[in-house]
Amino acid sequence: MLHVITVTIGATVPTGFEHTAAEEVKEKIGVEARISKDRGRIYFPITTDKLFQVHLLRSVDNLFVVVEEYDHYQFKQSKEETLMELQQLASKLPWTNALEVWKLNGTLKKKKGHRKGGSTTKVKPSRNTADVAAADTEQQLHQVVSAAESHLEADSAADAEPCEQDSQEAAPEARVIKFRVTCNRAGDKHSFSSNEAARDFGGAVQEFFQWKADMTKFDIEVLLNIHNEEMVIGIALTEESLHRRNISHFGPTTLRSTLCYGMLRLCKPQASDVILDPMCGTGAIPLEGAIEFSSSFYIAGDNNDMAVNRTVNNICHIQKRRADKGRISGLPIDTVQWDLCSLPIRTSSVDIIITDMPFGKRMGSKKKNWDLYPLCLREMARVCRPGSGKAVLLTQDKKCFAKAISRMGGLWRKLHTVWVNVGGLHAGVYLLKRTGAVFGQTPEDVHESRGMCNTQGDEKEDKELS
Ligand SMILES: C[S@@+](CC[C@H](N)C(=O)[O-])C[C@H]1O[C@@H](n2cnc3c(N)ncnc32)[C@H](O)[C@@H]1O
Repeated sequence: MLHVITVTIGATVPTGFEHTAAEEVKEKIGVEARISKDRGRIYFPITTDKLFQVHLLRSVDNLFVVVEEYDHYQFKQSKEETLMELQQLASKLPWTNALEVWKLNGTLKKKKGHRKGGSTTKVKPSRNTADVAAADTEQQLHQVVSAAESHLEADSAADAEPCEQDSQEAAPEARVIKFRVTCNRAGDKHSFSSNEAARDFGGAVQEFFQWKADMTKFDIEVLLNIHNEEMVIGIALTEESLHRRNISHFGPTTLRSTLCYGMLRLCKPQASDVILDPMCGTGAIPLEGAIEFSSSFYIAGDNNDMAVNRTVNNICHIQKRRADKGRISGLPIDTVQWDLCSLPIRTSSVDIIITDMPFGKRMGSKKKNWDLYPLCLREMARVCRPGSGKAVLLTQDKKCFAKAISRMGGLWRKLHTVWVNVGGLHAGVYLLKRTGAVFGQTPEDVHESRGMCNTQGDEKEDKELS
């Protein structure tokens, strides 16, 4: 039986959605998460028997296990002294439990250690887990590492060809664990660069463990996260950000699935809700909804035929993946090509509208947004149920959105805004509530007719811009 240990897990999350992620951790793992001052990170304790649940979280991008954390690390004034101290730190850190979790994690990974373009080593649980994980002595640490090494070795041999070669006889180079150190640094009071910190700390890690540095085909990624005075050393548990989970056919502005999940949670989908993404692009939002909140029904539409094709392909890809795993039920989602300003949908029939509007930068133009946004809010108000309907709208064109919404006061009420970072752009996720006003009877909607928004060709423009 595996020995259970308690460790701290760190997770990067879409900035602005840290509280949503903490809420999900509480709901699914039952522990309180701490939100780092460094926006976009949360930390929470788990026992190793819960490790698989961590991989089921939908709001996290990357996961790591914490080796050590310092809230107020006193970096030295000079670069030389600081780098020397980082080198000395490598051999003093309590690596044992984190390495144990890294090893266990290898057994949980779907692709079982097959790093993209990287090492083909697999990691199996140590037979000695109970013996080696109890305390934090250097001797035990080396036991953990050598257990991992021997498994890497055995698996490398097994991967190569089905021979009966004893792991002891495997090629010496197969025994060496490959690693890299990645330093993420923020703050202007440091005398060193992230490259220098990664290089010097990495050199000391290499010497201490006798691992081999490899920037691309690594088995272990050691993380050195420095934010002002805060320093966290961790070991990565994800090879690729979990935000890429649903999309196989990317578009020019595909939204991260983790951000889509955060937006969906904001509007709390209920069973049998009809949920619309009228500008779906690649379908990232409704697809995440159909997978994670599958008791609602999703309609994904876009006026661009390339976008509609991508959505259909993304849905088919997921359906196939599910069918291959023996799941027979389809996803509750339909796709339509339409102009959002004139939706083929009955008045007051939709519960939730959730969409990522053209920012006017990479998609569409700011000029077009002045026409598009008011028309769009009006048509959304028509199809959305008065009194109970909601909308969650993402845009970076805050000025245009503020103006459009101010003209729609009778139809929409702004409840809450979450500020997020989308590809380096500061954007708002606006949670709106449909007022009880009947459509067609407020000054906002009787004076202006429903028009067609000519935004076709945006994608072409976008390509030219990028
Ligand atoms: C920011 S993108 C959406 C990206 C999407 N969330 C994704 O993850 O791929 C905005 C989308 O709005 C669509 N669009 C612009 N004007 C439209 C209109 N009048 N009717 C329907 N879709 C429109 C564009 O074709 C584009 O796909």
